Amino acid sequence: MKRSILFISLMTLLAGVTLLVAQQNDLMEKKTLHAEKIFRALALGDLAQVSTEADALEKVTVDAGFANRSESYQEYGKEFLKVVRALKKEASNGNSAGSYYQFSRMSGLCFTCHEHVRDNKD
Ligand code: HEC
Repeated sequence: MKRSILFISLMTLLAGVTLLVAQQNDLMEKKTLHAEKIFRALALGDLAQVSTEADALEKVTVDAGFANRSESYQEYGKEFLKVVRALKKEASNGNSAGSYYQFSRMSGLCFTCHEHVRDNKD
């Protein structure tokens, strides 16, 4: 009896932890999906689609929030958001050169944040 209670508690705990991790990965999964769609739309010259996807990327980032995050995560996260907004603006204005530029900056920030925050270098 005691054993099965322990087992059930352990499984519940494990499910909770998995859910927490999954939520975070879900955010990055969404970010990746939108970034891929932006890449594709840019290659096709479909700036209206770039703007729509940048808007969606902005929303998932804002909705996830930065509370309970480390200082460096917040710092890179805010910078990321700024660049996503700049990309949305350039795409809405039909400026392809500006969109290419902001997209490159944005992708750079995915990697910068991972280098420093995900891989715990600062
Ligand atoms: C502000 C920091 C930050 C930015 C910006 C950021 N990420 Fe992440 N990313 C993380 C962290 C931290 C993790 C590890 C999961 C965790 O613990 O939050 C992660 C994990 C991931 C993962 C792995 C998820 C998994 O299932 O293990 C992918 C894929 C990913 N990010 C893609 C992206 C893409 C694409 C972008 C840019 C469009 C991006 N990230 C921008 C911080 C960031």
